[in-house]
Amino acid sequence: MTQASYPALRLRRTRASAWSRAMHAENRLTPSDFIWPLFVTEGSRAEEPIKSLPGVSRWSVDLIVERAREAQAAGIPCLALFPNTQPDRRSDDGAEALNPDNLMCRAIRAIKDAVPDIGVLTDVALDPYTAHGQDGLLDETGYVVNDATIDVLIGQSLNQAAAGADIIAPSDMMDGRVGAIREALEEEGHANVQIMAYAAKYASAFYGPFRDAVGSGGLLKGNKKSYQMDPANSQEALREVALDIAEGADSVMVKPGLPYLDIIARVKDRFEVPVFAYQVSGEYAMLEAAAAVGAGDRDALVLETLLAFKRAGCSGVLTYHALHAARLLGA
Ligand code: PBG
Repeated sequence: MTQASYPALRLRRTRASAWSRAMHAENRLTPSDFIWPLFVTEGSRAEEPIKSLPGVSRWSVDLIVERAREAQAAGIPCLALFPNTQPDRRSDDGAEALNPDNLMCRAIRAIKDAVPDIGVLTDVALDPYTAHGQDGLLDETGYVVNDATIDVLIGQSLNQAAAGADIIAPSDMMDGRVGAIREALEEEGHANVQIMAYAAKYASAFYGPFRDAVGSGGLLKGNKKSYQMDPANSQEALREVALDIAEGADSVMVKPGLPYLDIIARVKDRFEVPVFAYQVSGEYAMLEAAAAVGAGDRDALVLETLLAFKRAGCSGVLTYHALHAARLLGA
């Protein structure tokens, strides 16, 4: 790098006024950077606040449609849907994931009917449907089996695509599922349905509030370490991403977000594909808790953390703060 030295070079010069800072900003947030995760529940006119996620609720399908309208008005391009399946519809094999009239499919159809121009991303994994809370099928020892799970994930993906999902997002971390799902989508006439792979998804302590929201937390015994990644690893994340790209992922995701900015930056540098981050439930809860005790200004904390994802190389970020942040930016 060719540089002058002080005092010819004063890096504070370009920071001295607001107009100059605006002109020199290397990254910028816009509402189109956000994907808004929403939790769906049964009923009508139903809102169920989630205790561990203050400010986030589950909504019945009719009210999810209202959220979709709000998102579109705020400039958010895409929603991510997660169902809180009724307890009596959860089973060891997660068969409800294949039901064309399950809560998820009804929510997809309702949104696509009412707000056809907003994108709908759907999670593919069995944890909202299994009686044991794991993302896949178990053998007699309780191990999550890979290949048999993929067969169900293919059916789940086709079910969601038939209901109108625009982006299939496998979050299950089974080996080989992206290729298998891509092939099935092509065969069934869903050539334009995208796959956003949860490529580097870590076995994280930050998912707790999400599991409360989809009702799997109380069911889950043990952990997900036999399929989700070890937080100690980064080279392995690059291998995961390389595989998912080779299998046909249109974009890749790193999850959680803030504690894994190093992974995002390495993935972006290495592969030059669209990278998204999931700022997960525990991160949201952490920011809200910090703001609630006066440890920082809520709006500033939210926007700074979201901007950090852009700086690290993200095309966008899944965040529970999406609507709030989009409105802040639009104002
Ligand atoms: C399900 C899934 C999880 C999240 C997204 N999809 C939880 C998990 O893997 O246990 C977490 C999202 C969040 O914490 O906000 N496979």
